[in-house]
Amino acid sequence: MKKLIILFTITLFAVGCSSVEDESTSNEKTQTDKQITFTTTELSEYDGKSGNDCYVAVSGRVHEIRESDKWVDGIHTESEGQASCGRDLTQAMDESPHGISILTTSPKVKMIGTIE
Ligand code: HEM
Repeated sequence: MKKLIILFTITLFAVGCSSVEDESTSNEKTQTDKQITFTTTELSEYDGKSGNDCYVAVSGRVHEIRESDKWVDGIHTESEGQASCGRDLTQAMDESPHGISILTTSPKVKMIGTIE
């Protein structure tokens, strides 16, 4: 009888451990699923004009730029026409005074996916 109880306890423990493992796997999958892959055409729809959201691609990643007084009607006012929403701005970023670090330091920017 004692052996049976020990065996039952071990089985319960093993089932418990495997379900914890399942949970962490599914969390990882959920996080990966949240990242969206855009084609260039899809990206161009997020041009920041007429109430559209503003998304830009830099070095293969797509970032959302939320309301900012430096981005008006889809145009980055500081960039003298070099940077606008809905486009791949990798090259413009290379020529910018702030460089790529702005994407992590500005509270207006959120990484949301990748470009095909
Ligand atoms: C030649 C091109 C560019 C110029 C001259 C330029 C210039 C500037 C300046 C002067 C500022 C304000 C000061 C600062 O925060 O450092 C700024 C802010 C910013 N720039 Fe640029 N930039 C250029 C290109 C780009 C590109 C390609 C991106 C791509 C995403 C970008 C994203 C931003 C963002 C997110 C901010 C902060 C906005 C905020 O926090 O309100 N810039 N830029």
